[in-house]
Amino acid sequence: MTQRIAIVFGTRPEAIKMAPLAIALKQRAEFETLVCVSAQHRAMLDQVLDIFQLQPDIDLDLMRPNQTLPELTGRVITGVHDALTDFRPHHILVHGDTTTALGAGLAAFYLRAKVGHVEAGLRSFDLQRPWPEEMNRVVVDAFADYMFAPTETARANLLREGRPAGKIFVTGNTGIDALLSSANRLDTDQSLGAEVGARLPAAMAGRKLVLVTGHRRESFGGGFERICAALAQLAERPDVQIIYPVHLNPNVQEPVNRLLAGKAGVQLIEPVGYLDFIALMKRAHVILTDSGGVQEEGPALGKPVLVMREVTERPEAVEAGGATLVGTDVDVIVREVSRLFDDAGAYAEASRPRFPYGDGHACGRIADILASA
Ligand code: UD1
Ligand code: UDP
Repeated sequence: MTQRIAIVFGTRPEAIKMAPLAIALKQRAEFETLVCVSAQHRAMLDQVLDIFQLQPDIDLDLMRPNQTLPELTGRVITGVHDALTDFRPHHILVHGDTTTALGAGLAAFYLRAKVGHVEAGLRSFDLQRPWPEEMNRVVVDAFADYMFAPTETARANLLREGRPAGKIFVTGNTGIDALLSSANRLDTDQSLGAEVGARLPAAMAGRKLVLVTGHRRESFGGGFERICAALAQLAERPDVQIIYPVHLNPNVQEPVNRLLAGKAGVQLIEPVGYLDFIALMKRAHVILTDSGGVQEEGPALGKPVLVMREVTERPEAVEAGGATLVGTDVDVIVREVSRLFDDAGAYAEASRPRFPYGDGHACGRIADILASA
């Protein structure tokens, strides 16, 4: 029997991690696969769909400027429910911890489809950090029929919550599939590599790149003011070049532009396409971020990641020595970046490639599990 599978996602990171899975499922005869995007993000989602040449079957186009969580959540639940009713999916796959994951998961539950949670079991054990994502992922795992855990740590978190072992599958993270295949495209297709390189800000002679991203809600306000103050201090070093593709959330755009625009040594740019971002990560000396996905990608590329958060649901890279929690304290950020610039031994240790999040074959494993369901 052909199984009808709907894949739902809506933000940039979900798209990066679900596109290779959608492509893998569409290639297999056992499944009839439908891709539904909420477009919780509009521009940042479309950048990813273009790169993976993935055309959604349904586009709910839900993003509104500066949307609130309740209005978005309501639109996702109703939108996904109504859009998927006629397709009568056997399985609905959602990803991670976004409002789209929560809303689409609930819609799937109300449709009485089996819910597959990709990137299940991540926990910071603090419902306020990241907010609201920790709540979203706990809730989706509470009713998921298949939990695709990226690591053994994630599996253990789910078991500790009493989730049945038979519903949990350790697959690796599909984000590593996306990263390794896309990095390989850049390495092997010389004209693509040159095209991407030509679009990026030029390297500055005598300076090493600090690549920055940041968007967490719990850092809005004081957290972002401190992050920007730390970046301004670091930019005074003659050996530092900062490139910061600024997230489109207005709560990020406002402080970052107010505090850093025009500062020597700091280049604020629009969010870049995924291939361009991989090229920037490969050029980086240090990555300073609060992003979930970048915490997984940096270690795989052998780039030290300093995580501007107090807690992380991704402890594996920290335990392996490829990532360090630095919070949003100005002095700690400046000290830890400086240490990686000034202490060659510490840098060598932090920049060994590490693969705690997968081997690049997660999508095939998930497809096999669904095929035998
Ligand atoms: C969302 C997710 C977060 C994820 C992040 C990835 C939730 C609650 N948050 O946060 O888990 O880590 O995406 O980036 O689901 N905007 C645009 N164009 C875009 C994208 C965003 O203009 O392409 C602006 C809009 O004004 C939008 C706002 O950013 O209303 C906020 O977007 P939203 O998805 O609600 O929150 P994020 O902070 O992006
Ligand atoms: N990324 C990108 N362009 C950028 C910044 C990041 O393509 O300008 C990619 C990055 O490689 C990673 C993902 O976006 O795969 C992370 O997204 P984000 O930080 O928005 O969300 P999170 O992972 O924190 O949920």
